[in-house]
Amino acid sequence: MQLFDVYPLQNITVERALGAWVWDDQGRKYLDMYGGHAVISIGHTHPHYVKRLTDQLGKIGFYSNSVHLTVQEELAETLGRVSGKTDYQLFLCNSGAEANENALKLASFHTGRKKIVAFKKGFHGRTSLAVAATDNPKIVAPVNETGNVIFLPFNDADALEVCFRKQGEEIAAVIVEGIQGVGGINVASKDFLQKIRSLCTLSGAVYIADSVQCGYGRSGRFFSHDWAGVPADIYTTAKGMGNGFPIGGVWIAPHLKPWHGMLGTTFGGNPLACAAALAVAETIDNEKLLENAATQGDYLMDQVRDLPGVLEVRGRGLMIGIEMTQEKADVRNRLLYEKGVFTGEAKPNVIRLLPSLALRREETEHFLEAFKSLIV
Ligand SMILES: Cc1ncc(COP(=O)(O)O)c(C=O)c1O
Repeated sequence: MQLFDVYPLQNITVERALGAWVWDDQGRKYLDMYGGHAVISIGHTHPHYVKRLTDQLGKIGFYSNSVHLTVQEELAETLGRVSGKTDYQLFLCNSGAEANENALKLASFHTGRKKIVAFKKGFHGRTSLAVAATDNPKIVAPVNETGNVIFLPFNDADALEVCFRKQGEEIAAVIVEGIQGVGGINVASKDFLQKIRSLCTLSGAVYIADSVQCGYGRSGRFFSHDWAGVPADIYTTAKGMGNGFPIGGVWIAPHLKPWHGMLGTTFGGNPLACAAALAVAETIDNEKLLENAATQGDYLMDQVRDLPGVLEVRGRGLMIGIEMTQEKADVRNRLLYEKGVFTGEAKPNVIRLLPSLALRREETEHFLEAFKSLIV
């Protein structure tokens, strides 16, 4: 059997990894400034992570959500403390799309309404409602098309106001990334997020903060939306949550009430996934990785901002987009094949940096040296 060919692949076979570094099958070493797409939050094969997972596997790998699982309760407790959302409730699932799918469904159950407000260049996943709320018709199958999603321009508080004036009574939820990732690293303004909060409060709609890529400490705060100083009703997380072990989370404000059977999953919240997520949360806390992401990110952005070939630098913490001129469009590939540095991309010419939150200063310098040598 062959693999279903949906991914354009780099011609590299990755074999092992440690911290911010990855090795291929030829023994070549690469600096990982991509983190497997914002997934590697505490560094590859972190010893505390390996130990927690190994210990858990030796105790119990799986049981379903029909019994008490201590490790699940311990995770909810720890995440509440580390994120500062102690009064929120946690629903566990397996991926970012699933987290958003459940969040949107929950908002609709809660309000009894059908309309979702989403934004241009937004990405929320590939399951049916998450993809319908994603601004990319190419990945929306005919069966996923729905008249229930309203797309508005990102960071446009006036357009939002007009929409709520006309249809506020029908809107179940507004879903927004604090920093758009796939869309090219676009930071939501404070005013815009505050406007979403106030309009949702006024109309009774649910404010969903998609934190799948921009959350989990990546921006230097646990949730990038919290830079605006107003809380969301629901936060969704995945990517960095398990440092590579599949897990997603829906963080639900206390006024949203559950009933038995409302949401459910077989694998969500299984003991192995919870052990992985606990190791990540403990490491973020013990190693002060939010502070590190802010410090390394500020330094890196300052260093690249005025370089030739750089049109604009956007982002917060270790979620950084470097928009290159057309003449320098090949820098991302050259970084990989000539300098051994993994990065991500967004169309047309944005280099996306999503490294581990534990990135060290010498690794930041290694990236800067490689980058500068290709453009100066
Ligand atoms: C903001 C955002 N939401 C949701 C998703 C979907 O996550 P997953 O691929 O885990 O389903 C992604 C994935 O890139 C994302 O960037």
